[in-house]
Amino acid sequence: MDHKLKEKGGLFVFSSEGELADFFISRWRENSSRSIRERGKFTAALSGGKSPVEIYSRLSRAGGLDWGRTFIFQVDERLVPRTSADSNFNMIKSTLLNRIRIPAGNVFPVPVEESTPQLAAERYEAEIKSFFGLRPGEFPVFDLISLGIGEDGHTASLFPGSPALDEKEHIVAAVHPGGGMHDRITLTLPVLNRAREVIFAVKGKEKAHIFKKVVDGDRNCPAALVVPDGELLFVADMEAAALISMEKA
Ligand code: 6PG
Repeated sequence: MDHKLKEKGGLFVFSSEGELADFFISRWRENSSRSIRERGKFTAALSGGKSPVEIYSRLSRAGGLDWGRTFIFQVDERLVPRTSADSNFNMIKSTLLNRIRIPAGNVFPVPVEESTPQLAAERYEAEIKSFFGLRPGEFPVFDLISLGIGEDGHTASLFPGSPALDEKEHIVAAVHPGGGMHDRITLTLPVLNRAREVIFAVKGKEKAHIFKKVVDGDRNCPAALVVPDGELLFVADMEAAALISMEKA
């Protein structure tokens, strides 16, 4: 296992979806109460994908969370209407936001209504800067960022070989994956790597090969480039973690 992972957090493997989700929620709970105690608010950026569906659903039922001081952003989004089945916001809304009492002003969806990905990226960056009160050149520090890993090693909408991987100045980048895929916008690596806590959720046997590469720190996998200033955790099911040697962990 890559040494950075051992220093910064760890790998947690679960035999059921429920246990995995409950562990994620316990991290959310601790982080949220600490952040609110220390800074008066809790800021989280959420990914789309299938892996977090059960997590967000259970999170919506978790009691005792201070949603009034919780602020939700998106890690990435496809440039599709928010009602589309391909919309990450649609998934986050139906699994979590529709089921909790969070003020509308605490939720920051990607402005997909902009006419181009570039304009959407610029506007989302401006919204984030304004929320965090950033000066030029500063980056936001999110309390918690939830990420997934694609079968090609992508995370957020940072795909292998994408110019967005080299972004050093912007908070948000427009991504054109090609191959018939929707244009996207994504938080950039400098943002992911400043987070106080990053949790990757990885599920399914089709992820086993790529997950091993990421945990081994293979830099051809964008997900392996996420090494935050804060804690780095991987929560996985047994199928996804099948090729990772736990003795070395
Ligand atoms: C998305 C994501 C993306 C996702 C991975 C893993 O919009 O789809 O934000 O980066 O996290 O593709 O997806 P699964 O959770 O479906 O495996």
